[in-house]
Amino acid sequence: MAHPVYLDYNGTTPHAPEVIEAMRPFIETQFGNPSSTHWYGIRPRKAVEEARKQVAALLNCRSHEVFFTSGGTESNNHAIKGMANALGNKGRHIITTAIEHPAVLEVCRHLEIRGFETTCVGVDQAGKVNVDDICNAIRKDTILISVMHANNEVGTIQPIPEISALARKHGIAMHTDAAQSMGKIPTDVQVLGVDLLSIAGHKLYAPKGIGALFVRQGVFPEKFCHGASQERGYRAGTENVPWMVGLGRACELAAQNPGHTANHMKSMRDRLHKGLADQLDDVRLNGHPDDRLPNTLSLSFKGVEANRILEEIGLEVAASPGAACHSDTVSLSHVLEAMKIPLEWAKGTIRLSTGRMTTPEEIDRAVEAIVRAVEAIVRAVTHLRGASGV
Ligand SMILES: Cc1ncc(COP(=O)(O)O)c(C=O)c1O
Repeated sequence: MAHPVYLDYNGTTPHAPEVIEAMRPFIETQFGNPSSTHWYGIRPRKAVEEARKQVAALLNCRSHEVFFTSGGTESNNHAIKGMANALGNKGRHIITTAIEHPAVLEVCRHLEIRGFETTCVGVDQAGKVNVDDICNAIRKDTILISVMHANNEVGTIQPIPEISALARKHGIAMHTDAAQSMGKIPTDVQVLGVDLLSIAGHKLYAPKGIGALFVRQGVFPEKFCHGASQERGYRAGTENVPWMVGLGRACELAAQNPGHTANHMKSMRDRLHKGLADQLDDVRLNGHPDDRLPNTLSLSFKGVEANRILEEIGLEVAASPGAACHSDTVSLSHVLEAMKIPLEWAKGTIRLSTGRMTTPEEIDRAVEAIVRAVEAIVRAVTHLRGASGV
């Protein structure tokens, strides 16, 4: 039997074959410690610096502005806690948004226990932040603004250049979580104007457990991990050479023909959307219709529970829920809640995300399976209602 069609590329991506090939020598034979001054250290050290250059090229920054981390979560922790600790004497107010990943929101909550204050700016129904709302939240003691580049659930892209300009005007540091946008849309830090930017390797065909943080020259978050002098003293510990090499190669691949990849993901996503919307009534798109990641499709099916759909299609399609319904309660994602998606729609929300490897045949199989599942659930619900006279 064929594997389920993989439509959860925002959850994680498969490893690109080229990434595995680049990593292979550093797993099989090139085991040296990059800090070693002898022969065995030379190639690993060069490989780490080459990888740093490859990440920097995709970001359009200098390679000494790139610091490797264990992933998006650590990058966000480093950026936000690092800036809070470095600037805590100047001010203790941070601005973020209600739709950030927990790797930002939980860091802010942790800082609140330590005496910082957070303003969580809301979003509109398309999941977009209003720059004026950010402006109104700025106080004399604001030290950091952290707004994600693109949302992981609905894909809405935020006006980062405008928010960065505002931050700069007020002398506030600006961070963006680009875990989802890197490799899907341009992430040129000069255009975005940010001081700090987080990357997660496993969202762009590199392994899990590797990421990076861009820190603009002249910006000084507190050190994340104390010890020896790796990562210019910011993150002590012997480098994970194969994984760093993998992330570098993944960035290099993302930089090759980015328009083509984005067009492919978008055409697969739009084929999926059209296939479903043509055959099913009561389908609603969540997220911004235009300013949205080219691969992300968050759909709500009215009156149907998301986990029922995912159970029905489980052997045929891999997707993510936007809500979890238990026997008598529904827990919506904080993103759908912030977007004020009405409950009867929100509870039937699934996130489908396409990738570089998605094929038209896979999309057609997925459409068929989802249509069949939704129709069967609707029939069962209608039958149950009829039988109970509701
Ligand atoms: C927007 C966003 N930020 C941060 C993360 C966390 O990244 P990692 O899994 O590499 O820690 C994710 C992962 O889902 C994400 O989607």
